[in-house]
Amino acid sequence: STRRKKIYEGHGKILYEGPEPGTLVQYFKDDASAYNNAKRAVLEGKGVLNNRISEYFMTRLNTIGVQNHFIRRLNLREQLIRELEIIPLQVVVRNAAAGSLSQRFGLPEGQPLPRSIIEFYLKDEKLGNPMVTEEHITAFNWASTQEIDDMMALSLRVNDFLNGAFGAVGISLIDFRVEFGRLWENDFSRVVLADEISPDNCRLWDTQTREKLDLDRFRRDLGDAIEGYAEIARRLGIMKEMP
Ligand code: C5P
Repeated sequence: STRRKKIYEGHGKILYEGPEPGTLVQYFKDDASAYNNAKRAVLEGKGVLNNRISEYFMTRLNTIGVQNHFIRRLNLREQLIRELEIIPLQVVVRNAAAGSLSQRFGLPEGQPLPRSIIEFYLKDEKLGNPMVTEEHITAFNWASTQEIDDMMALSLRVNDFLNGAFGAVGISLIDFRVEFGRLWENDFSRVVLADEISPDNCRLWDTQTREKLDLDRFRRDLGDAIEGYAEIARRLGIMKEMP
């Protein structure tokens, strides 16, 4: 295969220069990491599943007007995406208590929240991705007030869509994390959904049994993580020709 310029390598993905200006190739690895990279493993097949699952949601979100960086899937592990100016924040949406929210406020995991809660974290692994408020975000110029509003509105639309899509196949969306970037056109930019939507960054429980089907299986040693990912793909009907 041809040698491509590597733009960025994260724990789960690699970004390469794309075939045309303004595009990148997003490659999904099998590497899993948790607890700020303290726990790592290779989960065979994870990249293939995440590529497919993320394609499924990004395509559908695009058609309902939630603009995102996805252009098209190229092969089992790669997708063509639009190059964005990444906003250095992670946006978490929570429908029920779990993980760090349960710890912080002493809430039992799975307890429904009075309403969906949005949180912002700084995307800086060396600092352990600290939680930030709108004050920090605007004071340090990570995003404008308008962009914060846009990210919140888009995150809630993604939440509504994912709740419906997962709910229809008997899966409860406990929480998820997304990232955004700026798409520039002349002197104007708009906020666009980036990264991926997969069981790496969503908490997904079987609605009936409460079985966890997401990366928490790996984080907490709850069994074969890939079985959970494959079950999600199967229920969404996107696993027909998968290994
Ligand atoms: O750990 P916490 O409860 O804050 O995680 C909330 C949600 O954000 C979970 O779905 C988790 O998978 C996701 N997350 C993520 N990347 C991080 C931190 C959390 O995808 N760096």
